[in-house]
Amino acid sequence: MANLFSPLTIRGVTLPNRLVVSPMCQYSSKDGFINDWHLVHLGSRAIGGAGLVFTEAVAVSPEGRISSGDLGLWDDKFIQGLSRITSFIKEHNSVPGIQLAHSGRKGSTTPPWHGIKKMGKNVGGWSVISPSSIPYRDYEPLPEEITLSEINRLVADFTFGAQRAVEAGFDVIEVHAAHGYLIHEFLSPLSNKRTDDYGGSFENRIRFLLQVVEEIRKVIPKHLPLFVRISATDYVTGGWSVEESVELARFLNNIGVDLIDCSSGGIIPGVHIQTFPGYQVSFAAAIKKTGILTGAVGLITDAHQAEEILNAGNADLIFMAREMLRNPYFPIIAAEQLNVHSSWPQQYERAKKK
Ligand SMILES: Cc1cc2nc3c(=O)[nH]c(=O)nc-3n(C[C@H](O)[C@H](O)[C@H](O)COP(=O)(O)O)c2cc1C
Repeated sequence: MANLFSPLTIRGVTLPNRLVVSPMCQYSSKDGFINDWHLVHLGSRAIGGAGLVFTEAVAVSPEGRISSGDLGLWDDKFIQGLSRITSFIKEHNSVPGIQLAHSGRKGSTTPPWHGIKKMGKNVGGWSVISPSSIPYRDYEPLPEEITLSEINRLVADFTFGAQRAVEAGFDVIEVHAAHGYLIHEFLSPLSNKRTDDYGGSFENRIRFLLQVVEEIRKVIPKHLPLFVRISATDYVTGGWSVEESVELARFLNNIGVDLIDCSSGGIIPGVHIQTFPGYQVSFAAAIKKTGILTGAVGLITDAHQAEEILNAGNADLIFMAREMLRNPYFPIIAAEQLNVHSSWPQQYERAKKK
């Protein structure tokens, strides 16, 4: 049996295989609501055989959106629409996961097809917040520095988001602490210049993330897995490092996080990242040595490549983004390539090569 198609049970949830649809913003929502695009997009990937299908980054507050087209979960009114997606994914033997996010200083932008430009308030944009009043790009408006009472509200926003996600039927919750968004802005010394309990030392910079995780763990059922996506390195001297990621993983493991989804970069613009197939796998491998489960992501596009990552013990799950966009049926085809019985939806069985 190929490792890629062996089930994995985390707490009380069993993923039928190790292939995960990585969170991917679709910029296609109106006022935070799910619509047919999301159902077809996520539903197709469940039909395609992925073991775990993540939504895009779902904003826990309106100003936590990256663009005005992001999904939201800051109100109970979003639960019903999201339930439609989770039921569909479950009907097709996959597991629905949700990524909870706050964009921090990188919010209020236009979608990629309009150039990821800052949206002015006159065209529906909003003021952004960050641990320190430092913009992502020099020429952007200064973000407002988050006050201590706002920190409590933000922790509550994540917690309510998690509660609603459970009500909507999601079986895995991932906290987005990567890619230069709010939580990463607290972690990295490049964006966090605070002099209070939330800035300076490593213990202070990770405090906000630990509080978010602790509060989420209190409100979600014990049997549900909790993942955290991090940027394992900023690739910049003086920035967040792999060593800090490894140390963070130990803290997160102790407070009920089950898996670290290991991405990288995104805190400041203009950083050269040398990319190659599996370029972030070494981060998953280093973090896995602490004893926590890890997910590998980034330029993993081939069944044998994915299988080797698991066989080498470098990660427990394989997250795939762009290849899943190119081919929603990647998992079914990958199973055939690894000589594993592939479970085609019965409606599609006549397409199966004999
Ligand atoms: C269209 C698109 C949207 C993305 N949106 C998110 C997101 O919402 N949250 C996130 O953590 N990463 C996001 N990412 C990053 C992917 O999840 C993934 O980490 C990255 O694309 C590298 O994996 P890949 O080489 O398989 O594409 C996005 C990537 C793409 C291509």
